[in-house]
Amino acid sequence: MTAKIIDGKAISQQVMKELVPRIASLKEKEIIPGLTVVILGEDPASMSYVKSKGKACLELGIRSETIMLPDNTSQEDLVKLIHRLNSDKKVHGILVQLPLPEHIEEKLILEAISPEKDVDGFSPINMGRLIAGQDCFAPATPYGIMEILARSGIDPAGMHAVIIGRSNNVGKPMAALLMQKRQGANATVTVCHSRTKGIEAITRQADILIAAIGSPGYVTADMVKPGVVIIDVGINRVEDPNAKRGYKLVGDVDFEAVKEIASAITPVPGGVGKLTIAMLMQNTVKAAENITG
Ligand code: GUN
Repeated sequence: MTAKIIDGKAISQQVMKELVPRIASLKEKEIIPGLTVVILGEDPASMSYVKSKGKACLELGIRSETIMLPDNTSQEDLVKLIHRLNSDKKVHGILVQLPLPEHIEEKLILEAISPEKDVDGFSPINMGRLIAGQDCFAPATPYGIMEILARSGIDPAGMHAVIIGRSNNVGKPMAALLMQKRQGANATVTVCHSRTKGIEAITRQADILIAAIGSPGYVTADMVKPGVVIIDVGINRVEDPNAKRGYKLVGDVDFEAVKEIASAITPVPGGVGKLTIAMLMQNTVKAAENITG
């Protein structure tokens, strides 16, 4: 079997297109959705994410602001800035780019963002609401994966979804979304991580396998069963002397080998990453809609 290659770009374009009338109707009410991204330092991967977010905002007519601060900015100043953004009516979504420099306590910063503007869904309030099955901002990457499944005609109900990785941004919210009691979810979920024993025996049971560990080519052909749906969340830079930039992007899955066994697979690039941006835009539009009641 050769897998269907899931086109993340096409799905993200559909999601973005569906936002156009929602943004237009907000504009009729004189509301322009606004996203403010705060970034400390100049890490190239973070800068590249931030640039993509700005580009998507521009494409949709979302007001985009990027606040670039030196990486020695104090925690106190960052919290003050977040408080100012929390009370700024033009700002509907606030995103503080992670990772933050070591002298800043991530938890404190995420808690400072108003839950109503937390379009990343990383604050404990939104994470709690997600677990409780309440309306919330779901983190963009796992939320985007739910869209990929739905729009590829894959219904996770009753399927065994195995997630590799237990991060707050992907693994944990992914498990919460997949196990929800609602149409498009209802999966049986297992979360594996660095301390899991006999991981291959578990991944081989997966009907849907989600790799989010940040290790290039970690999932090999012998770890999957025929017909599995593979969702590759990894975005790893590996050296490539033939590439203009000196590196190429690869996922957490050995794509060439695994695609011969799976029924469907997301590529890297061109898979999950595209949806992350689109879902962030959707969350920003939702944040602006929420203030209109
Ligand atoms: N760093 C890498 N991805 C993300 C993201 O989706 N949101 C934030 N805030 N930081 C990130």
